[in-house]
Amino acid sequence: MRLSDAGQREWSDADAAAYRRFVATARAYWATDLFAALRRQVGTQQRELGTGAFEAFVQHHPTHRIFAWLERHLQRMRYSGPFGLVESANREREALLAALSRALPEGMLRLDPDLSPPGYYTEYDIHQHPGGLRGDPLAGLVYREAVGSGVVGKPALHQRFAQFVTARSTPARILDLGCGFGRGTRAFAEALPAASVVGIDLSASCLTVAAHDTHAAFHGRLSYVQADAVASNLPPASFDLVTSTMLLHEMPESAVRALIDETARLVADGGMVAHLDFLPPRDPLLRILFEGHARRNNEPFLLEHSRIDVAYAYTRAGFSQVEVQDFAEDDGALDPDLARWRLPWKVIVATKKGGADD
Ligand SMILES: C[S@@+](CC[C@H](N)C(=O)[O-])C[C@H]1O[C@@H](n2cnc3c(N)ncnc32)[C@H](O)[C@@H]1O
Repeated sequence: MRLSDAGQREWSDADAAAYRRFVATARAYWATDLFAALRRQVGTQQRELGTGAFEAFVQHHPTHRIFAWLERHLQRMRYSGPFGLVESANREREALLAALSRALPEGMLRLDPDLSPPGYYTEYDIHQHPGGLRGDPLAGLVYREAVGSGVVGKPALHQRFAQFVTARSTPARILDLGCGFGRGTRAFAEALPAASVVGIDLSASCLTVAAHDTHAAFHGRLSYVQADAVASNLPPASFDLVTSTMLLHEMPESAVRALIDETARLVADGGMVAHLDFLPPRDPLLRILFEGHARRNNEPFLLEHSRIDVAYAYTRAGFSQVEVQDFAEDDGALDPDLARWRLPWKVIVATKKGGADD
């Protein structure tokens, strides 16, 4: 930083890089050392106190307070302020917009300027991302940058999920609901070289990034459409697999129920549904931290789909073989003594009745 002749502060690229390094290093400390210290310090009380008393004990524990404060404010620092991701993108706005308006192959991206997003999507800034993923054409790029350095940025997460699903079936027509900037969509296209894959999302900016990130090898069989996952307007029974990654927890309970019905309409007989999402952990401390994460990360619906008995809901919607199980985002992630904070990933898979095996 230096002062200009007029006494204004001027920041350099080195200042910005130092800020980002600080945030990344502090987040790594928060997720590992501080989490491990918290676990050690409150762990013995977990056995001795009842559920309510343990929760009160944790909430008032100084290490938990620091843990919670850092989670909230490091996430804010990541997105906001002069070196946050939003302002960094703003500084290069013209160049980034020009890159995003490059021509795309025919049929790669279909946006719907008349789409009116539901209230739950527009009323708060998800993940503390100012403006969320809705209006700003740079929001998708900001989001892509944010997950690259966060707890949902595990490089192999989507590939592992696609492997999990394709070990059970080899669908030819795949729909990825709430595809964001296309991480899951691409993982399925890579795993199944003969499949056609469509990603839909409410966010025009995310879809635009996804379309531009699509390697030429996928042109012609991977495409993106702006649509609401709950009312997609896509033809009935037109997919062998309907999937989503990290979508359910962003929707209120009524929308998740509507999504299950929409999924049942879109999957052909004998086809599959597969969701990768979060469900509250059983461990009392991890559960308190997960519920706190909902508040601190601006995820107001994080706990809503866990109120639904998805096995029952999918069975009622005409599916069988419903499985809900823990999912390891990397090797060793399910170790109960894992010394880092993690999101409680779960997979939900089900098969629509009426296939050749029924
Ligand atoms: C946490 S992001 C996950 C994105 C992507 N699936 C991934 O794994 O990177 C959730 C996505 O769901 C989208 N979304 C939320 N509600 C939606 C809805 N009703 N219909 C379609 N997309 C929706 C958001 O725009 C966002 O891109």
